[in-house]
Amino acid sequence: MYKWLIRPLLFQIDPEVVHHLSFSALKFLFALPGGKGLARLLFAQDTLRPLQLWGLTFKNPIGLAAGFDKDGLIAEDWQHLGFGFVELGTVTPRPQVGNPKKRLFRLPADQAIINRMGFNNQGVDALVKKLVRMEKGELIVGANIGKNKDTPNEQAVDDYVICFDKLAPYVDYFVVNVSSPNTPGLRSLQEKEPLTHLLNTLQERNQALPKPRPLLLKIAPDLNQNQLDDIVEVVQATRLDGLIANNTTISRAGLRTPVQEVQAMGNGGLSGAPLRDRSQEVMQYLRAALGPDFPIVGVGGIMTAADAEARLAAGANLLQVYTGFVYEGPAVVRKLLTGR
Ligand code: FNR
Repeated sequence: MYKWLIRPLLFQIDPEVVHHLSFSALKFLFALPGGKGLARLLFAQDTLRPLQLWGLTFKNPIGLAAGFDKDGLIAEDWQHLGFGFVELGTVTPRPQVGNPKKRLFRLPADQAIINRMGFNNQGVDALVKKLVRMEKGELIVGANIGKNKDTPNEQAVDDYVICFDKLAPYVDYFVVNVSSPNTPGLRSLQEKEPLTHLLNTLQERNQALPKPRPLLLKIAPDLNQNQLDDIVEVVQATRLDGLIANNTTISRAGLRTPVQEVQAMGNGGLSGAPLRDRSQEVMQYLRAALGPDFPIVGVGGIMTAADAEARLAAGANLLQVYTGFVYEGPAVVRKLLTGR
C-alpha cells in the first residue's frame, strides 16, 4: 500500500516537509492506545533474527542510519517498526540550523536522494535530555557525533570530546563522523594524521570509562584505495571497535535523472540505489583488509532483501538504511529481512 498509494501522495510534497510529517504521523501512531502493537503487527512481523556484537544483543541486523532521527525525537519507538538498532545524530555540541533550504531532493528515477542538510540539529544537550527520559527496552541506541560548522578543524577534537563525554552514559555505541560532504572541510579529518589524533583522544577517554563503549568510524565512499589503506592502518593503530561503510557520495555518475535536473539540485551527498555498487565494493575491500573478525556496518543503497543479503555476504556484521526507508516505507525492515 505504501508504494502505490502513500508514496505517490507524499512525493507530491517537498521532501523536508514530508520528513517532518512522517515524524508527526509516527508519533501520533505510537501515542495511540495499542498503537505500538499495531505498528509491530503491520510493519514488523518476522523481524526477529538476533545476533551478538560487542557484547550487545541486536534483535536483528537492520538499523536506522544516522541523519533520520538526529535529535532522538522518537528514538525508542523505532523498535516498533522492527529496527534492531538506531543511530541518533549527527549531533554537534551546539545547536545549528544547517544549510539554507532547499537542501533535500528526491531522484525517483534513480531511487535516490541528494541532501546538503549540514548537520541541522538541536545540539548535544537537547539529545541528552531525550535520552535521560528514554525507555529503550531492547533497542540498541548509538550516537553519531560531529563538529559544529563554525568550529575550525584545528579545534574539531574538542567538539567530538564534548559530545562523547555528554552522551557516554546513555548510548550503547559511538560513531565518529568525519565523512559528511555537507560540512566544509570535515572530510579532511579522514586523513591519517588528524584522524589518528582524533581517534586516540576519544579512545583515551573511552578506555577511562568504567564500561568503554564500542567506538566506530564512519567513512566516505569516495576514498580511493590508498586512502582506504590509510583508514585500515589508523583503525588498527587506534584499536577502533568497528567501521561504518559508508556515508553519502559526492559522485553523480550513472544517474538516470537528466543531468540538468541533477545539476540544478546542486551540491550534496547522494544516497540510495546508485550508491549500492560502490558501497558493496568498499565492504568487500575492507573485509579483505581487516580480516574476518573486525566489525563492519554496511550502509549505502540497501533497498531490497537481495541487497541486504549481498552486503552481509560481502562481510557486513550489521546493516543500516536511510533512503530505503523513504522509498520502501515503514515496513522496510521486514522487507529487507524477508523479501515481502
Ligand atoms: C544522511 N546521512 C547522514 N550520515 C551521518 O553520518 N550523519 C548525518 O547527519 C546524516 N544525515 C543524512 C541526511 C539525509 C537526508 C540523508 C539522505 C543521509 C547518511 C546516511 O546515514 C547513510 O550513510 C547514507 O544515506 C547511505 O545510506 P542509504 O541512504 O543509501 O541507505
